[in-house]
Amino acid sequence: MEINKIAVLGAGLMGHGICQVAAQTCSYHVTLRDVEQRFLDSGMKMIRTSLEKFESKGQLKSGEAKQIMERIHPTLSLEEAARDADLVIEAVPERIEIKTPTFKEVDECAPKHAIIASNTSSISITQLAALTSRPEKVCGMHFFNPPQLMQLVEVIRGMRTSNETIDAIIDTAHRMRKETVLVKKDSPGFIVNRILIPALNEAVALFWEGVADRDDIDKAIKLGLNWPMGPLKLLDYIGADTTLSIAEVLEQGIDPRFHPTTGLRQMVQAKLLGRKVGKGFYEWTGGH
Ligand code: CAA
Repeated sequence: MEINKIAVLGAGLMGHGICQVAAQTCSYHVTLRDVEQRFLDSGMKMIRTSLEKFESKGQLKSGEAKQIMERIHPTLSLEEAARDADLVIEAVPERIEIKTPTFKEVDECAPKHAIIASNTSSISITQLAALTSRPEKVCGMHFFNPPQLMQLVEVIRGMRTSNETIDAIIDTAHRMRKETVLVKKDSPGFIVNRILIPALNEAVALFWEGVADRDDIDKAIKLGLNWPMGPLKLLDYIGADTTLSIAEVLEQGIDPRFHPTTGLRQMVQAKLLGRKVGKGFYEWTGGH
């Protein structure tokens, strides 16, 4: 199946990046939909800033950023975004009460042949697929933050996802110049988050127990394991709320050993969510 037109739902941290990658790497026309104008404006601004960075480094030719921007069509209407899409990539907030009506509405608006892929980091693909009349055309397409720079896409097969859908999504991800891995069974956290989230949770425990200072925990993992950023900084980068909700899904769906630490819960209760609010384990000014 050929994918020519893509709709991305959600212009937030992940959605704007996925939309940019699609428009930038394979000249797709992409419709970017969000529920409020301010979210769309902020997503479009993040895309512009990112493209300017690439242009200033010579990674895009002069004038290319403008052409890419022209291929992106922001809209507040889900019907408009989905009605002629071959692929709808859902990147709305990671809450089932938001994903449920979104999936139902997309299923009503999108053409019968369209694939619906979710960028969920932990919610069951099978559960999302069951909200639609086309479970064989629903799968997971999980990008990593920031999607513009991170190489990987996890492709997740739900219980009823067809081979044709999986092949089309792997092909689309490759056109977006991403590497893919196939998650053959729909299991909480898929591959990466099942390994990453317990590590971040444990870093918070070390900090909370006073075993080591923030900078030493991050330095240890950066230099000892060659991570590009330490776990507490990465946790800020992902968001303490997102990390907590993935930990809860792992705990409920796999085993109590994934229990989120008290420290992680308290960071969320204190609204020290990280980069997106300007403060977490670190102070973030201007996104850095
Ligand atoms: N668009 C374009 N360029 C960008 C950018 C963006 N969105 N974000 C950063 N850059 C550029 C910076 O401007 C910088 O350019 P220069 O070198 O020319 O200054 C370059 O990328 C490197 O950025 P930084 O200097 O800010 O920092 P860095 O060297 O540490 O790289 C990083 C940034 C790529 C994010 C790197 O730190 C990294 O790989 N961190 C780990 C990220 C990670 O693990 N992500 C996965 C999170 S888990 C997830 O997403 C899954 C989930 O479900 C929770």
